[in-house]
Amino acid sequence: MAIRPLTMMDNPVLHRKAKRVRTIDDSIQKLIDDMIDTMRDTGGAGLAAPQIGVPLQVVVIEIPDEDVVTLINPELVKTSGEREMVEGCLSLPGYRGEVKRWESVTAKGRDRSGKAIRIKADGLLAHVLQHEIDHINGIVYIDHLESMDKLYKAEPTDSPEES
Ligand code: NI
Repeated sequence: MAIRPLTMMDNPVLHRKAKRVRTIDDSIQKLIDDMIDTMRDTGGAGLAAPQIGVPLQVVVIEIPDEDVVTLINPELVKTSGEREMVEGCLSLPGYRGEVKRWESVTAKGRDRSGKAIRIKADGLLAHVLQHEIDHINGIVYIDHLESMDKLYKAEPTDSPEES
């Protein structure tokens, strides 16, 4: 278990599609453990492997008072509704932006034991799932901004707006 350094927005690893995980072996288990440690250390609500420089399709999410969700090779399979959300990214500290997100989503992937899972979510979990699955696809929230007026400076906080 270890806290790993975060990659920042200027790192190309955040702007490329990550590779699918073929075998969930010990190295993937260690990666997941390190991602959970790193997410908790930063106070963020989620983390994608490219954010620690690993170009693989692995995400972890921890919403306050809920169990950690680990998703390997995640994909959105259903979306509905739309709303504008304020969000930030651990890879761009000190900023927030307003972006349009789906209100409810269903995501599928595998858990860390390799079992196929589907997660139906709304609220914060739906929001963070979209942010993390974007990271897996080389997309960051600032790519969604309609204009730069929607990006502003904010105090770094431990709020779950960052992931
Ligand atoms: Ni992020």
